[in-house]
Amino acid sequence: MKGNIIVGQSGGPTAVINSSLAGVFSAAKELGVNKIYGMVHGIQGFLNESFCDISEYVKDKGDVELLKRTPSAFLGSCRYKLPKIEGNEATYDKMFEIMEKYDIECLFYIGGNDSMDTIKMLSDYAAAKGKSQRFVGVPKTIDNDLPITDHCPGYASAAKYIATSLKEIIRDNESFGVEKPTVTVVEIMGRHAGWLTAAAALAKGEDCHGADMICLPEVDFDMEKFMERVKYLAATKHSVVLAVSEGVKLADGRFVCELGGGADFVDAFGHKQLSGCAVVLANKIAAETGLKTRAIEFSTLQRAATHIASLTDINEAFECGYRAVMAAEAGKTGMMITIDRAEGDAYQISYGIYDIHQIANVERPVPAEWITEDGTQIGQGYLDYARPMILGELQPMMVDGLPRHLVRK
Ligand code: F6P
Repeated sequence: MKGNIIVGQSGGPTAVINSSLAGVFSAAKELGVNKIYGMVHGIQGFLNESFCDISEYVKDKGDVELLKRTPSAFLGSCRYKLPKIEGNEATYDKMFEIMEKYDIECLFYIGGNDSMDTIKMLSDYAAAKGKSQRFVGVPKTIDNDLPITDHCPGYASAAKYIATSLKEIIRDNESFGVEKPTVTVVEIMGRHAGWLTAAAALAKGEDCHGADMICLPEVDFDMEKFMERVKYLAATKHSVVLAVSEGVKLADGRFVCELGGGADFVDAFGHKQLSGCAVVLANKIAAETGLKTRAIEFSTLQRAATHIASLTDINEAFECGYRAVMAAEAGKTGMMITIDRAEGDAYQISYGIYDIHQIANVERPVPAEWITEDGTQIGQGYLDYARPMILGELQPMMVDGLPRHLVRK
């Protein structure tokens, strides 16, 4: 590659988004790329020419290893949607001028379905104007809702955190031998798709009873049935733990979290901030049953927990970044790297690349056949899918008893 490259991170961070950055960086180094620029705060930073030279921070293999163990988006993230091309040519002209100024030949964007829209727009514009720059997407999202790819880097680590923490919560909830149970409601991220909440099913095993209900946004939330089931569980068990997606909705389209008066903030992608359904449900259960309740929101913890990230996920995230650069080197543009899984019991994956137009802005839900008929548990199909992805750990680099991170100053 003769020119320089630039890479950005976008959307909600994951525990392994920096592994993908490490993959991009390592491949570019291998190809002898002169400057490896990072967009500071994604495409929003790009528009302000807010760049950093990643080589100033990542100087050797040790730094690459530390980057892989660093949570959040090392470069800074954004939720910013490029305007439609028609009528906004000036914005796009400016972006290509910036690329020419810094001699940027390829742009890589690590993100989810909204972020892939950026790759689509830029590659479409380049094609329309006969520009030679290339644009390749690197999949990333804890939500696991990108289509085409079997799964998304970031998901497995969040799933591992969720299942681990849920096991610990269930254990704690069971510890008191009182007459009346405590009902704990655990709220899990994943806006419109229930992949993350489905991960609650991984907690169940020889040493754990698992969650008593798992409520996904794919299933209309029936408050009456929910309360009926909670009352039954409370009458028959001495501990009740419920896993509920932040995105559960009533049949009339209202989010359960909105019943508590939240969900006012809307981001640039038009998404409402969903938070608070565990509190709404725990309060309702307490008011109607008189039982002790707790609301636990995993919130940012589930996407920042690098200390318990899946090694499989870390390695795959790295590969996706690495392969994006190699694909661009081979002339690909307007595409995203995918993880393709072979049929059969053994976990075997390979990496592919796919047209961004089939991916950007599309959300893939949890398949209906993986949800039990009553809509409150997750079946074997999901467990077979997810278990191999959460395998392995990477020891954090501990300093003074705490994990060390790489910081951009
Ligand atoms: O898109 C990933 C995600 O983690 C969603 O699961 C969640 O709804 C959202 O981001 C939260 O975003 P923010 O941190 O901007 O509130």
